[in-house]
Amino acid sequence: MTTGRHLAAALCLGAAGVWTGTLWLASRESDVDMIVKERLLAATGDDTTHSTSISGMTMRVLKCPWTEEWAATEAPDPLAPPYQMLLSADYLQGANDHRRADLMTEAAGQGVGFVTSMKPARQILQDMVEEALDTFEGLVGELA
Ligand SMILES: Cc1cc2nc3c(=O)[nH]c(=O)nc-3n(C[C@H](O)[C@H](O)[C@H](O)COP(=O)(O)O)c2cc1C
Repeated sequence: MTTGRHLAAALCLGAAGVWTGTLWLASRESDVDMIVKERLLAATGDDTTHSTSISGMTMRVLKCPWTEEWAATEAPDPLAPPYQMLLSADYLQGANDHRRADLMTEAAGQGVGFVTSMKPARQILQDMVEEALDTFEGLVGELA
């Protein structure tokens, strides 16, 4: 869930609240490496994949050579948790330590395409609430 329109839609469907994740990764306060932040800001939903290759559990992440190789038809199935993490940990840590932009990855939802600028967390929240309120006002206007 990434935008105020998403928030408004969820509330309209009866949700009491929403769970957000990806949009905070590229906030100014986030300690995610700037290389990854730039990839997140440039990414669309198509740059993500639903993969078990990181931890053995399904998670959506930015595509990287590791996820693509494990998704290949000739690749073996990833191991069950926690063993797959033992396999992937050195790769992930090495990619981060050596700041290999081509190898690094991060958890990211399909809404990553809506995250296009690095803003302070306070601004992210304000923008989301304003957009949700605008969406509700638009809906009320249409119904009136
Ligand atoms: C850095 C990060 C770590 C996450 N770790 C987990 C996790 O351990 N288990 C899980 O079920 N979901 C995890 N998620 C997925 C969040 O539950 C997901 O982001 C949340 O449903 C909100 O969706 P959104 O990221 O599209 O806003 C993670 C997401 C991010 C961004």
